[in-house]
Amino acid sequence: MSEPRTIAEDGDGVVILDQTRLPAQTAFVRLTTLDEAAQAIRDMRVRGAPLIGATAAYGVALALREGVPLAKAIDVLAATRPTAVNLRWALERMRRVLAESAVAERRERACDEARAIAREDEEANAAIGRNGLPLLQIVEHRPVRVMTHCNAGWLATVAHGTALAPVYAARAAGDDVFVWVSETRPRNQGLLTAWELRHANIPHALIADNAAGLLIMRGEVDLVIVGADRIAGNGDVANKVGTYLKALAANVHGVPFYVAAPLSTIDFDCPEGAAIPIEERDAAELGEKVSRGDTPVVNPAFDITPADLITGIITEQGILPPTGLAALRR
Ligand code: MRU
Repeated sequence: MSEPRTIAEDGDGVVILDQTRLPAQTAFVRLTTLDEAAQAIRDMRVRGAPLIGATAAYGVALALREGVPLAKAIDVLAATRPTAVNLRWALERMRRVLAESAVAERRERACDEARAIAREDEEANAAIGRNGLPLLQIVEHRPVRVMTHCNAGWLATVAHGTALAPVYAARAAGDDVFVWVSETRPRNQGLLTAWELRHANIPHALIADNAAGLLIMRGEVDLVIVGADRIAGNGDVANKVGTYLKALAANVHGVPFYVAAPLSTIDFDCPEGAAIPIEERDAAELGEKVSRGDTPVVNPAFDITPADLITGIITEQGILPPTGLAALRR
């Protein structure tokens, strides 16, 4: 894959890379209506907080072209996934900008703003890569060993990724880097991360989620970098379920634990992690054998890592202490 950008304008619509078909198949899907955009987010054809936000912004543009009222388009898209705040952030931005536009100009204005959101995400993630790079230049004569969880690579954003952006920057700078990729049950987003890293020729190994503690305990991990779906005002972070356990293990063994995210992932209206809505997903995700049986299933898609377990938050504005976010409120 030569052009690692997940969403692109194409004639009357936008083309996305269907992540439900990866890593087996690289298939592109064209979205031309509000319902198609909402369905793509709901079914996780597009996923990852920043990409969900950008897709929703384009979904508003597609809706206006169909003649769907703005308020309805925003309601439909806002209901697709509850945890990634980039979704609400992008929709609020579209609402604000379009409210200020003359009705006759709204369709064009919606396209421009969706394009701006996508471009800004790309730029923010490139800056996250640059800002996180020094964290990976901590050892000589052997690769720095990063552990990540889920997929916070370019697939989860418009381009570059968040947690993987410093890894790509290190590779581009000629530094040796190795990535521990946790499988990320039940949806196996780790396979997406492994797919990205394989295409970028970055050494890595896939591990079962439960192997993370052992590797951290044995000193085989120099630092952990994960993405975020929502960061509360006090620095608590919601990310893919399983993140918290890695943070606990890293804390006990003195391994730095970083979160990489653009400022659009910070929810200043949310005071603390406990107030972040956690998406509950279908039992079927735990596998056919489980969902066909009588066993009750609970399937939360995200968990909360308290701010005091986080070494720093890598953003486009630098590496911030998790407890110092209030100063950024605009
Ligand atoms: O359910 P998903 O696959 O959308 O969850 C994605 C994650 O949890 C990512 O770590 C997070 O969105 C950051 S993506 C740059």
